[in-house]
Amino acid sequence: MSDHQRRQRYSGTHPKRFGEKYKELSPDRYTDDVEKVKSRGQTPAGTHRPILLPEILELLKPAPGETGLDATLGWGGHSEALLERVQPGGTLVATDIDSLELPKTEARLRTLGFPQASLIIKHQNFSGIERLVSLTRGGFDFVLADLGVSSMQIDNPERGFTFKTEGPLDLRLNPQWGKPAWALLEGLTRRDLERIFQENADEPQAAALAKVLCLYKGTIKTTSALADTIRRVSDDPKALQRCFQALRIEVNREFNALDTFLAALPRCLRSGARVAVMTFHSGEERRVTEAFTSGCSTGMYRDLSSEPIRASTQERYDNPRSKSARLHWAIKA
Ligand SMILES: C[S@@+](CC[C@H](N)C(=O)[O-])C[C@H]1O[C@@H](n2cnc3c(N)ncnc32)[C@H](O)[C@@H]1O
Repeated sequence: MSDHQRRQRYSGTHPKRFGEKYKELSPDRYTDDVEKVKSRGQTPAGTHRPILLPEILELLKPAPGETGLDATLGWGGHSEALLERVQPGGTLVATDIDSLELPKTEARLRTLGFPQASLIIKHQNFSGIERLVSLTRGGFDFVLADLGVSSMQIDNPERGFTFKTEGPLDLRLNPQWGKPAWALLEGLTRRDLERIFQENADEPQAAALAKVLCLYKGTIKTTSALADTIRRVSDDPKALQRCFQALRIEVNREFNALDTFLAALPRCLRSGARVAVMTFHSGEERRVTEAFTSGCSTGMYRDLSSEPIRASTQERYDNPRSKSARLHWAIKA
């Protein structure tokens, strides 16, 4: 296909819609254009900028010959750096539940010139971490989990993760598993919804939102339909963001997965192994700090972060998506 045929048509001087951003969607071919997008503090379409990368490398100390796990592969920015540091002789195991993005990331990482056997990618939930221990010699030397959603998921309107673009209200991290949010909503009661908004997003207007969503149940099939319904209660963009987050967590059973992962984690580590978990909201952070603190008091971990590590002012400026990141760590006894 010629370049001329491949290009998308769009109005104005710059493409605005996700599917039109053909240069950003081929970062290897359009390096300079992609750098310009990054310098404006934006994430090029179809990619994800790894957050707190130098800090994570400093904490995890990946070394030649070691075996590590990146539990949330995403675009593979963290994985690429970890994979480089375990050479020669080491292995990086990486998991993700996103059946759409995982093959693209795997294809990209496999072209980087590392020995093919040093990268093992599994399409699976990180709650099944114990099944991966057989790939190691007695446990992982380091584990990273960068929780939540990737920029590829947020930016693709077809996946329905944001109120900022029109799309089906899907919200599934793994489009092959579970019900999309619009279908889930139909089976939820007012009481279920109130609990979801409270527990998953500490939403102060949980009761009012649950009431209005119940009233319009059956008609909310798209991101804009949900946003319009929420706006009947609150115009605050933060309320919109919290409601989308709360539903996303419910659709993907994110807290169940995280609790199972954190409970199994110490059994999957070698003595002295380093663990880093990056959280993006209070529900995640609470679970991680509780697991690490109780693991320390029962002697499973020998040290843990007293305060989370946050992105520097420069990183927040360069990549606004790093603003809410809070990195916690622990060391296996
Ligand atoms: C913030 S992104 C990771 C970005 C990645 N560190 C990078 O550098 O590109 C989070 C990723 O975790 C995945 N994910 C979320 N929950 C998961 C789970 N329970 N098991 C496996 N992957 C999960 C999402 O699909 C998403 O791709």
